[in-house]
Amino acid sequence: MTERVVIAGAGHAAGQLIASLKQQKFAGQIVLVGDEPFLPYQRPPLSKKFLAGDLPAERLYVKPATFYDDPQIEVRLETTIAAIDRNANRLTTGGGDDIPYDKLVLALGSRVRRLAVEGADLAGLHYLRSIADVEKIRAELSAAKRAVIVGAGYIGLEVAAVARQQGLDVTVVEMADRVMSRVVSAEISDFYQIEHAAHGVKLRLSTGTAAFRGTGRVATVETIDGEQIPADVVVVGVGVVPNTELAEAAGLAVDDGILVDDRCQSSDADIYSVGDCTRHPNSIYQRHLRLESVHNALEQAKTAAANICGQEKQYSQVPWFWSDQYDLKLQIAGLSDGYDDVVIRGNPAERSFACLYLKDGRLIATDAVNAPREFVQSKALIAAQAKIDRDRLADTGLELKELATPAG
Ligand code: APR
Repeated sequence: MTERVVIAGAGHAAGQLIASLKQQKFAGQIVLVGDEPFLPYQRPPLSKKFLAGDLPAERLYVKPATFYDDPQIEVRLETTIAAIDRNANRLTTGGGDDIPYDKLVLALGSRVRRLAVEGADLAGLHYLRSIADVEKIRAELSAAKRAVIVGAGYIGLEVAAVARQQGLDVTVVEMADRVMSRVVSAEISDFYQIEHAAHGVKLRLSTGTAAFRGTGRVATVETIDGEQIPADVVVVGVGVVPNTELAEAAGLAVDDGILVDDRCQSSDADIYSVGDCTRHPNSIYQRHLRLESVHNALEQAKTAAANICGQEKQYSQVPWFWSDQYDLKLQIAGLSDGYDDVVIRGNPAERSFACLYLKDGRLIATDAVNAPREFVQSKALIAAQAKIDRDRLADTGLELKELATPAG
């Protein structure tokens, strides 16, 4: 029987893991080790309602503080992990403490990618990943008139929407030739570009930042094209990198993510890993994935907890993601890369529609904008890997779920 589970990293996945272990009546000791000063909390609202001031910090937490007030649980916050000693089954903290484990779960997440251009260390330039980051950004936005956002991914566009709604002059600088190019097709990018422009956001596509200028504090963003954009505050959202260094140093198999199997077990039987830091097999897409996804983190946490408790639980999920910008809810089911056909259901002009992506006659992904029914039914169709009646797919008089063709 497992006596002592140590969880490295205290993010959303870690919170779910403890909840699942308790639910499974795990009888041993649980030690949670994380470098942030906060108990496990949800990150998705950070760049949305929490930034806008519409959600109090207490509502971010996965569980209330009293939940951890349990003789079975030991919480060690503001504690960095320096190394994993797999021979001795223990962690060493930055402060030199040893923490022994029977099973270790690496829930190390990812960290923001940082810009390495001149002036990137000036005051007034922010990255957004934690409660502490958002508290600073919120205060600066409220004192600013002009914001420049670097990166038009989820973070950049969500922050742009909040800043515009607060009346700031907002310019977004994006290296790619369209917004959210990592995650959506050109059809959805076009729609969001029009929406942001209509809300008064100035988009600068196909250009990056050459330098940030100012004395002590950022005053101007210089783009690669040579444009000088005045800025009182800058928020950078140029992607994340998985925290795999500890695993790599410990000799675990790592390949752009800590390699785990469908039970979330790493190349060491005593070490599991969950969330953004993993690369894991996906039975629907028949390949390994590294996902930046809360849903994945939570499902992997449940899977790891079950297996630690001696059950056979395999992870098999359709990935999904979402983004809130203005009054638009974008919900993405599945992964669209490699699609050979795309169908639009609904009318973008009505601000409620879906883009459905097919490959070899099967639905592989859907981007739904203010269309939750299409999103939910798409998830089921993607999971079933059913052939789809392509010719009737655009007919919104029919339910999506009716369009799976029998057999095949
Ligand atoms: N200048 C301008 N844009 C850049 C630069 C640069 N130097 N480098 C990258 N970009 C752009 C990319 O082209 C991309 O459109 O930044 C965008 C980053 O988008 P994402 O990869 O979606 O990352 P981000 O928005 O930072 O979100 C990070 O946080 O919302 C969560 O888990 C979610 O994966 C997401 C993560």
